Amino acid sequence: MRRATVSADRIANMTLESEPPAAASAATIANAAPAMTAAPSTELSAFIPSFRGSAPYIHAFRGKTFVVAFGGEVVADDTFPNFIADLNLLASLGIRLVLVHGARPQVEKLLEQRGMESHYHRGIRVTDESQLGSVIGASARARARIEAALSMAPRTAAVTPIHNRVTGGNFVVAKPIGVVDGVDMKYSGEVRRIDAQAINDCLKDGDIVLMSTLGYSTSGDTFNLTVEEVATQTAIALKASKLIFLLDTPGVLDADGAVISTLYTREAADIANKAPQASDVQFFLSAAVRACQKGVARAHLIGRKLDGAILQELFTRDGIGTMISVDSLDNLRPAKIEDVGALLSIIEPLERQGILVARPRALIEREVERFFLAEHDGQIIGCAALYPFPEANKAELACLAVSPDYRREGYGERLMTAVQKAAKEQGINTLFVLTTRTAAWFLERGFTPAKITDLPEKKQALYNFERASQVYVKQI
Ligand code: ARG
Repeated sequence: MRRATVSADRIANMTLESEPPAAASAATIANAAPAMTAAPSTELSAFIPSFRGSAPYIHAFRGKTFVVAFGGEVVADDTFPNFIADLNLLASLGIRLVLVHGARPQVEKLLEQRGMESHYHRGIRVTDESQLGSVIGASARARARIEAALSMAPRTAAVTPIHNRVTGGNFVVAKPIGVVDGVDMKYSGEVRRIDAQAINDCLKDGDIVLMSTLGYSTSGDTFNLTVEEVATQTAIALKASKLIFLLDTPGVLDADGAVISTLYTREAADIANKAPQASDVQFFLSAAVRACQKGVARAHLIGRKLDGAILQELFTRDGIGTMISVDSLDNLRPAKIEDVGALLSIIEPLERQGILVARPRALIEREVERFFLAEHDGQIIGCAALYPFPEANKAELACLAVSPDYRREGYGERLMTAVQKAAKEQGINTLFVLTTRTAAWFLERGFTPAKITDLPEKKQALYNFERASQVYVKQI
């Protein structure tokens, strides 16, 4: 996690009254406070903020359906036992898990042993009748390994180990792909229908559903499907919250080889189109885009070779791989009465530091409609308020605060812009702020120094000479 323990100077660096992008969240201040009590050991202090940071995700994921897709390579990886243990952990947190596994390396090995050759067309195996048995055999073998691993008790289990039940079945109705570019794909098939009801019944009973890439046609034939298609169609049919693919690379990479952290569907589709043909990025990214377009909230592409990647992706704000979503994670909106608690948790610590002017809860409740909130991924991470003085044709931009974990990401600026826009809509043409320590931030954003006498009279009457805040104004 990027969240670091809050240091004293970080708090000292926080500011003002009409607060720019510097304030602290309740959680981080709370972490700093125990300096007065016993100092936690280094190990504990690293663990506690990250565990706390994961709490919103643990809470949000309970009862949600995740489809996790991985190729047969994963079964052979060193990280496999840990990966499976992580899946068990997800299940025990109440996540409804559907796993879709491939078996390509296993199939290749079996064909080789039997002296047969693999043929691919457009990255998809051409499965002829003589090879279908090997495909079924390899798939069954991979499945057995996964089931066995899922049955393994955690090594350090102090209590009776949980035993997650694993189920599978004829959930995929398949049909042949047919002839592509003149190539008969034979027993390579595609999804005709997913029996979402049957899968849901198993999930309802608390089972982990393990699906292979075998599907059965209404004529009773077995077809070999691709892992990305089964996973995508299943996620869509189940209206899953997440579709997760394990990749060879640590995520989708940019031209410099760095992981691209988030992509909206349009950008993701562009990259998928440009990706090398028949690469896992091309297949998985296009599949992720399809899933998101059909209602799956988020798709994630994470590296299969990184131990614990799935936990880091799911339980931290920044994840570790690439996340694809239809919309931005960020939201700016007016505050509602239900937000008062979260709002206070952002501003109260600053009030205690004397950085923001104290506003009692009752006052905030009364004035909550003056506040704008910045949200990231459903969490309130910043606020700003607009206090109009229409008689003077001026408005105060007040209480601008952003959690330190989200600083320098433009939230302060966006909050300021929202307040400014709202002021303008009320016909006001001058915005002012009172600040003790972050004048520079406002200067950079078009504010100029002003005098106390430039304030509306009502505000002058309330001016606190002890605080000696500086006044800045901006014509809007
Ligand atoms: N943990 C959050 C989730 O699972 C956010 C993950 C963000 N990941 C990323 N690659 N940017 O939804």
